[in-house]
Amino acid sequence: MDETTVDNHLYAELWSASARAWNTPAAEPSGRPRPSLISFTYGLPDAATFPSEELTGAASLVLREHAATALQYGSIHGSHRLIAALIHKLKDDEGLDLDPNQVMITNGSSGALSQVARVLLDPGDYMVAEAPSFLGAVNSFRRAQAQIIEVPLDSDGIRIDALEHALRAAHAAGRRVKFLYVMPNYQNPSGVTLSFPRRHDLLDLAAEYRTLILEDDAYRDIRFEGDALPSLFGIDALGDIRGHVIRTGTFSKILAAGLRLGWVIAPEPIIRKLAAFKDDGGTSPFSSAIAAAYIEAGELGPHIEQLQQHYKRKRDAMLRALRQHFPPSVSWSEPVGGFFIWLTLPDHLDARTLLPIAHEEGVDYLPGAACFASDSGSNNIRLAYSQPSLDDIEEGIKRLGRVLTASL
Ligand SMILES: Cc1ncc(COP(=O)(O)O)c(C=O)c1O
Repeated sequence: MDETTVDNHLYAELWSASARAWNTPAAEPSGRPRPSLISFTYGLPDAATFPSEELTGAASLVLREHAATALQYGSIHGSHRLIAALIHKLKDDEGLDLDPNQVMITNGSSGALSQVARVLLDPGDYMVAEAPSFLGAVNSFRRAQAQIIEVPLDSDGIRIDALEHALRAAHAAGRRVKFLYVMPNYQNPSGVTLSFPRRHDLLDLAAEYRTLILEDDAYRDIRFEGDALPSLFGIDALGDIRGHVIRTGTFSKILAAGLRLGWVIAPEPIIRKLAAFKDDGGTSPFSSAIAAAYIEAGELGPHIEQLQQHYKRKRDAMLRALRQHFPPSVSWSEPVGGFFIWLTLPDHLDARTLLPIAHEEGVDYLPGAACFASDSGSNNIRLAYSQPSLDDIEEGIKRLGRVLTASL
């Protein structure tokens, strides 16, 4: 089995383990009722937050007034109205001055990430990913047959010393690294945020080694405390416009994942190249028109503020429950935004082996091994607090605490 097969196999196994857990009978053989499963596995947005009433209003408006364009094929770059609304938001939030030619609307940010992988990576190309990283993106890089160099994180984000070492080694081997794939804010899965000084160090290293940065900022607006740090794209663009950064974003976490709307912003030549290989009749013109109408009505800003409060309560509930119910030999990240907390168990524990026991107790999670391109992370767990209710967070962490305490 090659590496890709191993990984797909692992993922398939995890999926089927979870599916089995969801489908198990309501009672154990002993007759004891089996607790209903509480899942911390997937970082799904909480469906209770979807602004369906406001979107109904936006959809009616679109059908009444813009049906001819909203129901037609669209431009390859995406809806002009949505691009204009997005440029306005990024100017208001971050002071970015973007030209519409620097923006492309995509099928979620997954669409942007896989388009970047398809267009920029040739088989055998070197690229860097954080370890751990977002498996969805890593799979796109794998499908493009890239050589993924993993660089570890610490509590301030990607380790600059290890990155420099990796870039120097690639350079010494006569290889240029195509891009560095990083999630600076509330990283998936670790929850860590790249510190301000490291953002500058990262940009300097990218310039020195002539590599691009692929900045995945999916969780940027789901911030619980403190000021937002400038994005790598923002620092690059507001500085001497070196043009090293491709940044992806999404409406999935701040509006509705089912709209399937994300974006990529980058220097114009890169957008032109990405667009040249996009042949889908335009990304979701109808969804785009609805989202544009929603944003133009001034609904998005207040909605994001509510989401920040909503997910902060969930983050707080999970941290509180972890402190109360977990053995002291387990440690965890304390994210200031996003959907995830990353657990580190004692070395001798394997989160994959514990998963069936957790299912018996009625709790499901993502074993950390699924988040590495290499064979690492056996003693890590990713917990998503975005979807379960506050009560389920408390109860699920209590159950998982029991499993871990019993296995020590
Ligand atoms: C870090 C990160 N990037 C990108 C995505 C893709 O989301 P979407 O395609 O819905 O924008 C996700 C989804 O969970 C994610 O966690």
